Formats: sequence, structure tokens, C-alpha cells
Amino acid sequence: MKLFLDTAIVSDIEERLDTGLIHGITTNPTLIKKSGRDPWQVYSDIIELGVEDLSIEVNGDTSKELIANGVAVNKNYGNVATIKLPCTIEGLKACKYLSNIGLRVNMTLVFSVSQAILCGLAGATYISPFIGRMDDNSLTGLSLIADISKVYKKQFINTIILAASVRDVQSVGKAFELGADICTIPPKVFDNMAKHALTDVGLEQFNRDFLA
Ligand code: E4P
Repeated sequence: MKLFLDTAIVSDIEERLDTGLIHGITTNPTLIKKSGRDPWQVYSDIIELGVEDLSIEVNGDTSKELIANGVAVNKNYGNVATIKLPCTIEGLKACKYLSNIGLRVNMTLVFSVSQAILCGLAGATYISPFIGRMDDNSLTGLSLIADISKVYKKQFINTIILAASVRDVQSVGKAFELGADICTIPPKVFDNMAKHALTDVGLEQFNRDFLA
């Protein structure tokens, strides 16, 4: 069971990394755009913080382009970089190639068990089912985690289930319960995981009693 942070804001990562509870970072083109910064600079800054697993999405219409861009990312950032590829036929072909040469691949935008099967067969290190976006579209994201987990267990597939598009703390617990290996979460969700109203009330009482 591991937690990744889903953000391209370097200060947000820096503030939380020293908890020792975060094992990786995921980014995507939208998060990079929101940061307002040069992507390569963002990746370098994140790696400088000591992050050991950083998902970097690459662009391309063909497997050839995706492979070339994935190899370029690996040349730049070495093994810290996990190459993030879209779950399309071209992405799957690129996944197979890059996994075969020993690179970690994170297959993103996964919305079905059949896609997860293909990612497993392509040797993906991670698959990212997008829970929140499924819920946005009246599908049940958490059920997908359970379904993929059942198939992977039964078929001895080693691909790691990285629950993505997680928007609240309840979904984190449920995703792990249903078979996610990792949840990638926004910084705010990470902060909220530690909070409970009864903890605050109890602590106030204990602090008063310390002084009594
Ligand atoms: C994961 O890899 C994605 O970056 C992310 O979780 C997408 O989340 P969203 O659906 O909230 O944009």
C-alpha cells in the first residue's frame, strides 16, 4: 500500500515529502499547464527534492513517437522517470517496447477491465484507472478497481493498480480495500487524510488536561 501525490506544484510536494509517507509523484499535461511552468524545469525540480518515482506523460500519435519521447525522457531523468502513456493501441505498442527494454511504464486513462487486460499483457508497471472521471460520467470508478484487481489476481498479472483521479479521502480507503496497490492523490486529499473532528476535540481536551 503506497501513496503518490498527483500534482506538478513543486512547493506542494516539498511541503509534504518530509512526512516520509509519499512514495512517488504523478503528473499529467493539464497539471503541468496549471503550474504555469516549463515542464522540463518542473520535472527537474521534483527530482531534486529526492522523489524516486515520477510519472511523466509523453506525447505522440504513433507508437514510434511515443517510444522516441519515452526514451528521451529516460535519457534526461534516468530511472526516476516512469513513462506515462495513453491506453490506446499505439500507447500499448509503445508500452510493450519500453517495458521490454526495462523502463517503467504507467498506462493512463484506463476506464475498463479490457483496457487493464491489454496493459497487463503489454507489461505495464502501473495502470491508472481514473475513478473520479468515471464517477463524473455516471460510472462507478471504485467497482472498476475491484474488477481489475480480481482479474489480475486470478491471472497472476504483476501490473500495479495505481488508482488515479481520486478526489476525496473516502475513495482512498475504498480503493485500497477493493484492491488498489497505490492511490495517487491531490495534496489537499493527502492533508485531509490526517484530519478528524474527533481528533481535534480529543486533543484539545488532552492538552487542557496536560496543564491541569
Ligand atoms: C493521474 O495520473 C491523473 O493525473 C489524475 O489523477 C487525473 O485526475 P483528475 O481526473 O482529477 O484530473
